[in-house]
Amino acid sequence: MKNTILTIQKQKAENDKITMLTCYDYSMARLMDQAGVNILLVGDSLGQVMLGYDSTIPVTMEDMIHHTAAVSRGAGDAFVLGDMPFLSYQTSVYDAVLNAGRLLKEGHANAVKLEGGATVCPQIRAIVDAQIPVCAHIGLTPQSVNAFGGFKVQGKSVEAAQKILDDAKRVEEAGASMVVLEGIPAKLADVITQTVSIPTIGIGASAGCDGQVLVYQDMLAMFSDFVPKFVKHFANAGDVMKQGFADYIAEVKAGTFPAEENTYSISDEIIDQLVR
Ligand code: KIV
Repeated sequence: MKNTILTIQKQKAENDKITMLTCYDYSMARLMDQAGVNILLVGDSLGQVMLGYDSTIPVTMEDMIHHTAAVSRGAGDAFVLGDMPFLSYQTSVYDAVLNAGRLLKEGHANAVKLEGGATVCPQIRAIVDAQIPVCAHIGLTPQSVNAFGGFKVQGKSVEAAQKILDDAKRVEEAGASMVVLEGIPAKLADVITQTVSIPTIGIGASAGCDGQVLVYQDMLAMFSDFVPKFVKHFANAGDVMKQGFADYIAEVKAGTFPAEENTYSISDEIIDQLVR
């Protein structure tokens, strides 16, 4: 059954945890859909894990549409959430609606995600009015890395925690269908999850959230530039892949690959008639 905004919200009501993973291409979308992941997030984290930037700041709308369209082609029953990159919505409500619409029209996403709380509520309201579901993203919002002075856990003082709780309530009022809580203390994530009626999706937050999200290269141990505390390696795919590459090199050099079963035959009669 296709995952929709309604099935995802029903999961919160029924205390059935929501699973979200980042996804950036067709093959991975097929695998995640076959495994039963509810939501494929085409995150702007592709800036780091796919494109090699040191932050999400350089990622463009064209990058996001290209990858979102590829994921949508492989998503099957999974819900596709397209991330709005830096400066695609902060500049104006008009830009926000136009760019959110492009993620649906050209990337075939089912919904969009954008970072920020009270300050982006006019954008959330306008995108929702355009009939596009929105996932908000509060706490440690990576597009604010320069304003935060680094990737730091947010909400540790009374004022900072209150602001994040207020942001959660404001994005819900503005019409967001769900909210990602990133890099905040576990007890604060629990309070937010109990306070708002929309699903909360945690990353570096708490098991009390209604669902979880991880960057897939992190959870498969495929990316070692930076491994945050909240990452768990569910499989050592990075090691398996490196071993596969090394075995390929060894067999090519030894001449054992390709073997006969990997090649196409032709009769000697034809070969003998070739002019060399
Ligand atoms: O871009 C991304 O991958 C994200 C997740 C970290 C939530 O926004």
